Amino acid sequence: MLIAGKNFKNNLLLAPLAGFSDVGFRAVCALQGAEITFSEMLSAQALKYDSKKTKDMTIVHPYEKFKIAQIFGHDTVSMAEAVNNEALSLFDGVDINFGCPAPKIVKNGDGSALLKDLTLLSKIIFEVKKSTTKPVSAKVRIGYDENNIVNIVRACEDGGADFITVHGRTKAQGYSGDVDLEAIATAKSISSIPVIGNGDVKDFASYKKMLSTNIDGVMIGRGAIGKPWIFSELSFNPTENAFDLIKLHIDILRENYPEKWLSLYIRKHFLAYANTFGAKSETKKFLSTSQSIDESLKILKAEFKHFDISKKSSKMPIG
Ligand SMILES: Cc1cc2nc3c(=O)[nH]c(=O)nc-3n(C[C@H](O)[C@H](O)[C@H](O)COP(=O)(O)O)c2cc1C
Repeated sequence: MLIAGKNFKNNLLLAPLAGFSDVGFRAVCALQGAEITFSEMLSAQALKYDSKKTKDMTIVHPYEKFKIAQIFGHDTVSMAEAVNNEALSLFDGVDINFGCPAPKIVKNGDGSALLKDLTLLSKIIFEVKKSTTKPVSAKVRIGYDENNIVNIVRACEDGGADFITVHGRTKAQGYSGDVDLEAIATAKSISSIPVIGNGDVKDFASYKKMLSTNIDGVMIGRGAIGKPWIFSELSFNPTENAFDLIKLHIDILRENYPEKWLSLYIRKHFLAYANTFGAKSETKKFLSTSQSIDESLKILKAEFKHFDISKKSSKMPIG
């Protein structure tokens, strides 16, 4: 994969996932083969006012190979300023969120709301690009109410984006319906800059379908939650011991966040791992209320023993 003049070993990217793509998770995904990792979306306004909560999301790890900070907002001045915020200094690139469909984001004119104003979308990219030497990318959906991908790609190109990620759904669809692979293929066929395909890639079959659109890279979101080893399954060798990765995920978080906060935050990741292992409902109940990370890890380790990772792996080389 060639992006922003840089050659990457494979074509896999970890999606920005608010509430999930913490530094530990990004680090283990990178170890497993995610070449590019994205932060959770960061508010340009919150960065401006030095929000601690937002700054806490900007911690990076040496295992990450190419780290991109994703920002959101609609004010060109604060967006351009955000890029040069000290908190983002360790990131290698900046992505702009033009896809979030959450009502609280859209009603402020941010995220996917900008798909309705392509002149402003383009201007935001232009101003951000002007204020940094780092690569600037745009993450879009195929349209607001309906497919408008050709004009969206043109607006991103006009703004000067280095690459585009296309989630193959409209804002109106949210997460329902099938991903429109044809729209992603159209984006790629008309675009002068690299296009990353995104949406519903969770195994080798869906990965192959996404590759059939001829895109430059594949971004995986939900398929990696509870299963960061999806990247090694799709790229080189299936991982030997998934539990060690979970432990590493937690260890990295423990180095960076207070235990009390972490014991609550981590429950959703533990539940996602438990689901992947096919854990019993009593186990999940325990994990969703546990206050002790060590106790939860012990329980997960026991579940992991019954989990045969070789059966879940495709072991197929990438073509
Ligand atoms: C829990 C969750 C949080 C997300 N947070 C973000 C975000 O911060 N920024 C963004 O651009 N997209 C976000 N997305 C969208 C994903 O990046 C991705 O585009 C979408 O989930 C489709 O890909 P997938 O089917 O591989 O998950 C989020 C999705 C989920 C499920």
